Amino acid sequence: MQNEELSRWRQLEPSQIQERLRLSPAETQRWTDVPDGQASAGVGSVALPADHAAADLIVQLGVDRADVPRFLATRPDMRRDPELYWLLDRCCRWLIDRMGRPDPAYHAWPKIDSAGLVGEFLYAWAFLAVLPAVRRYHASVGLSEDESWDSLSALGRELRDSHTGTGLGPTWMLPLVFSDVSFRLGRLAFDQRAPAANTHPVLMPGEGSWNLHVPGDGGPITPALCTASMVRAVELSRRLSQTAVVFCCHSWLMEPQLQDHLSADSNIVQFQSRFDHFTDSRIADADPIHYVFGRELAGVGDRTAFRDQLPQETSLQRAIVAVLKSGNHWHTRTGWSRTAARPDTGSRPKAPAERRASEGEAGR
Ligand SMILES: CC(C)(COP(=O)(O)OP(=O)(O)OC[C@H]1O[C@@H](n2cnc3c(N)ncnc32)[C@H](O)[C@@H]1OP(=O)(O)O)[C@@H](O)C(=O)NCCC(=O)NCCS
Repeated sequence: MQNEELSRWRQLEPSQIQERLRLSPAETQRWTDVPDGQASAGVGSVALPADHAAADLIVQLGVDRADVPRFLATRPDMRRDPELYWLLDRCCRWLIDRMGRPDPAYHAWPKIDSAGLVGEFLYAWAFLAVLPAVRRYHASVGLSEDESWDSLSALGRELRDSHTGTGLGPTWMLPLVFSDVSFRLGRLAFDQRAPAANTHPVLMPGEGSWNLHVPGDGGPITPALCTASMVRAVELSRRLSQTAVVFCCHSWLMEPQLQDHLSADSNIVQFQSRFDHFTDSRIADADPIHYVFGRELAGVGDRTAFRDQLPQETSLQRAIVAVLKSGNHWHTRTGWSRTAARPDTGSRPKAPAERRASEGEAGR
């Protein structure tokens, strides 16, 4: 193989990348601006694992063994796919450069759907390329083997959930996981946020927060499991030299109407009661439809007919449909909590009147 052929991807202009991969100008600029780093030193230095190692890793990360041959067939090639290889190099450099440092911009990596299957799996190869560095970081901050692999299995989950069966959709979570700012700690997952600006409604100047996520693959969110995860997050934050952890969770699970429909001892109601300050209330009917029924509201013409055929087996399913039938909406909010422990009063949900009185600031 001629050197010239090997390094063709390096000579590409950003405008060629933008056109061939149909990236937005802003996205192209973001990738162009990624600083030089170890990942790109020398021709072909993006160290993709060999096929047998890649196969084992991708299975360990949660992909079905039956899907491995299809995945291996998407290995990017610097001669055949120079534009994709350019992007692969930038992805790796970005991940290495940001390792352990929350990105204040917090932007999603867009789906690459203009370059066939190789494009759709490109990010997955970038994640495999940086895996050794990510694993070293996990060990250095005291993550157990299980916690490390559980965290990284977010890749298998997103590949399974992409519904296309052909690679990754747009992803904002995976860049966080593979740049070591997002961790799965038992039932819950967390990502570190950059320190707050001076005017934050909850955080003190310079104070950081940990964004809390409820992955769909771990079963019920019992209070004990949630407390264990949050206590572990506080421990880890100490290893990362952070003095305070303020938890925040932006979710449909923070919707106050849930308290009117679910029993007081439901896990969701008890989970919500851990948070004592709420911001960013937004109408979001699509969220419970997605998370509870696995259906998408976007593009539905006749919403009444759609709503009326949704299953009504659990109290939550009935609640979601009942609120929509009454003409009301579901919301997402950000809940904030300064404690990992469940407050003593936490198991007692506020009465609706008491609750509404304390929600003035949510601005619904
Ligand atoms: C969050 C989650 C784990 C809560 O489940 P849980 O711990 O069982 O919750 P609760 O104990 O409060 O459940 C109360 C009722 O709702 C039902 N329920 C809870 N989640 C449900 C779901 N996803 N689909 C259907 N019914 C559900 C329960 O079966 C129970 O029904 P019942 O009263 O008829 O017996 C679950 O909804 C889930 O996995 N959701 C997907 C992930 C998600 O939404 N993450 C947040 C993204 S922003």
